[in-house]
Amino acid sequence: MRVIIEKDYDLMSKRAAKIISAQIREKPDSVLGLVSGSTPIGTYKELIRMHIEEGLDFSRVTTFNLDEYYPIPSTHPQSYHYYMQKEFFKHININPDHIHIPNGLVKDIEAFCRWYEEAIKKAGGIDLQLLGIGRDGHIGFNEPGSSLGSRTRIKTIDAATIKDNARFFKKKEGIPKFAITMGVGTIMDAKCCLLLASGSDKSKVLTKAIEGPITAQVTASILQMHKDLLVIADEKASRDLKNKEYYQHIEKLTRELKTLIIDEKGSR
Ligand code: F6R
Repeated sequence: MRVIIEKDYDLMSKRAAKIISAQIREKPDSVLGLVSGSTPIGTYKELIRMHIEEGLDFSRVTTFNLDEYYPIPSTHPQSYHYYMQKEFFKHININPDHIHIPNGLVKDIEAFCRWYEEAIKKAGGIDLQLLGIGRDGHIGFNEPGSSLGSRTRIKTIDAATIKDNARFFKKKEGIPKFAITMGVGTIMDAKCCLLLASGSDKSKVLTKAIEGPITAQVTASILQMHKDLLVIADEKASRDLKNKEYYQHIEKLTRELKTLIIDEKGSR
């Protein structure tokens, strides 16, 4: 696990976008796992800037989103389909056939979830999964108590999350209580996970997730077992981390090491 602490939301977003763009430049047909919500908006903005100003090419990239409300039409302004188009896809050169987001109106949910898992496998697995964290420690919509081995399925949304999401919906009755989400096991299969956390209301849960015991009550805590986890938090979200100074020390030394490494030609 590597923990990077950036001063603010803007720097956190830029750092995340830099890592995602490096992944795409190294492997132009990368499979990205994407997330919605407030946290990744700055990252998407920076990736869009890189596409426009630096020619970052998404034409061979494939994406799988973590989740979608259920039931919800893709045209609903609060659907994750709508969000992804608005915040990211319509601004880049991604092939629409390469975009996968759970279908919020599918009738045979079980068959759809099986298909989603298969489609991820067929694409070669997720190279990099972008994640946010809910205040109850969820990743995707894997609410407290979700099996840490779970796969894509329909989930009931926790009362606290419904309350958190209410701010986006005009009518209280319209707030979805269900979602189709990748499971914790699906997320853990990604080759690399990139967890973002911003703001003081995430500081307690981030501490539980990365420094607390691994428990299904905080599903993000399973990420401690991931072979390649990178956490990027801003100052406010990292406020309660017990080992904050240690993470900063490691980052400083990692940067120093990079300047010392001699390549095969004998130069730095
Ligand atoms: C959304 C998702 C959720 C969010 C989490 C944090 O696709 O999977 O797990 O990442 O609820 O949301 P924000 O970023 O709005 O605080």
